[in-house]
Amino acid sequence: MNNLFIKNFGCQMNVYDASRMAALLQDALGYRQVEEPASADLIILNTCHIREKAAEKLFSELGRLRKNVAGRPVIFAVGGCVGQAEGELIFRRAPFVSLVFGPQNYHHLPDMLRRLEREGGRILANEEPPDSKFDALPAVTTGGPVASVVVQEGCNRFCTYCVVPFTRGREWSRPVEAILAEAASLLRQGAREIQLLGQNVNAYQGIDREGIPHDLALLIQRVALLPGLERIRFVTSHPADMNDDLVAAFRDVEQLCPYLHLPIQSGSDRVLACMERGHSVADYLGWIERLRATVPDIALASDFIVGFPGETEDDFAQTLALAERVAFDHAYSFVFSPRPGTLAATMPDPVPPEVGARRLAVLQERLNAMQLAGNIARVGRLEPVLVEGVAKRGDGGEVTGKTPQGRTVNFPGDPSLVGRILEVRITEGLPNSLRGKSA
Ligand code: SAH
Ligand code: SF4
Ligand code: F3S
Repeated sequence: MNNLFIKNFGCQMNVYDASRMAALLQDALGYRQVEEPASADLIILNTCHIREKAAEKLFSELGRLRKNVAGRPVIFAVGGCVGQAEGELIFRRAPFVSLVFGPQNYHHLPDMLRRLEREGGRILANEEPPDSKFDALPAVTTGGPVASVVVQEGCNRFCTYCVVPFTRGREWSRPVEAILAEAASLLRQGAREIQLLGQNVNAYQGIDREGIPHDLALLIQRVALLPGLERIRFVTSHPADMNDDLVAAFRDVEQLCPYLHLPIQSGSDRVLACMERGHSVADYLGWIERLRATVPDIALASDFIVGFPGETEDDFAQTLALAERVAFDHAYSFVFSPRPGTLAATMPDPVPPEVGARRLAVLQERLNAMQLAGNIARVGRLEPVLVEGVAKRGDGGEVTGKTPQGRTVNFPGDPSLVGRILEVRITEGLPNSLRGKSA
């Protein structure tokens, strides 16, 4: 028996890739995915390169796993964005790794593994392949009511701090019918919600069979016509790629959830310019205003970076003010991390780590307070919750799901409810979730 253990890091794109790798390896080589590394014959770390700690995590994880399987012949493989960016270096830092590959190369895993078995040695696959992984992978499978479809990959924006254009490659949109076929197959298997994924998803520009160009708004309309589809979401969007049709889609497409993740990064125009984000704070606020005018109850999420080179106390104060003004429902925030090969890594005037850490703590406290206030404001309401699974806590007597705005709700119920949309009365707003009672 061939056992496969995949440990995943990073964004939803990596989660998607990992599930497709697992299906491919099962199809081609009979690998069975296991939950624990102890019985694995092949261990794949599907990595993320977005911040420093991510790569450090990889090497400490590799060391830990190696101890865990001591004495057994296990193939160690490193895929994903660190694999792409670091290539050979990984073999040097972790010589027991025999396979390193990038996010565009994993469809060749069966061939590479056969070659390793035959010839031994090491294989590095981080060149742009001549063929697309999407054409070579077996049909998708889903385990649950929420399924993802990658619609767009890579990024051409080159924000000055970001490695994604280097790790995922150039921006590329999948053709419309390929997306529809994948989504339809997931829905036939029981998915009720489809999440359209892209590094810069609202820059989607695909064509259909007739050669008609589709932007994201049009793609959403096409997906919404698929039988069985209850909900659609999409992540992550760029403010400079917003358009009025996408705003209108929130009004016109019934299944499109009122949730938008639209990272702003900073509330200072000066910092946004240094990041080369291609929009101003006023542009951003303009979109927020139009979105809220169209869908008053829309949930808004963002990402922030503090401590970008040259960020002053005043710049940071503007970030806080912007966050307060929008009152985000949810946000991720990070201290700037210089990434190899990016422009910002060489910019002068670095912010001392302790200053960055303090700004992050201050911002996170505000963001957490906003999120809690938003959650408390839902108490008493009846919300349609798509049940995704059994809640981790609650001794099996609770299920967990999401509201259209993307808030997690835990409530008493049994596993037979998974996949159903239930009206749930919200009884409590907690920092990261809601509690409720099925109505
Ligand atoms: N494509 C998405 C998200 C990219 S990465 C977008 O453009 O919005 C997710 C988040 O990680 C970013 O939004 C940013 O907030 C953060 N991030 C990216 N590079 C970073 C860096 N070098 N240091 C700190 N945070 C970073
Ligand atoms: Fe990175 Fe900017 Fe592209 Fe997002 S838009 S992936 S932050 S380069
Ligand atoms: Fe990380 Fe690569 Fe996603 S760097 S955030 S796994 S695109």
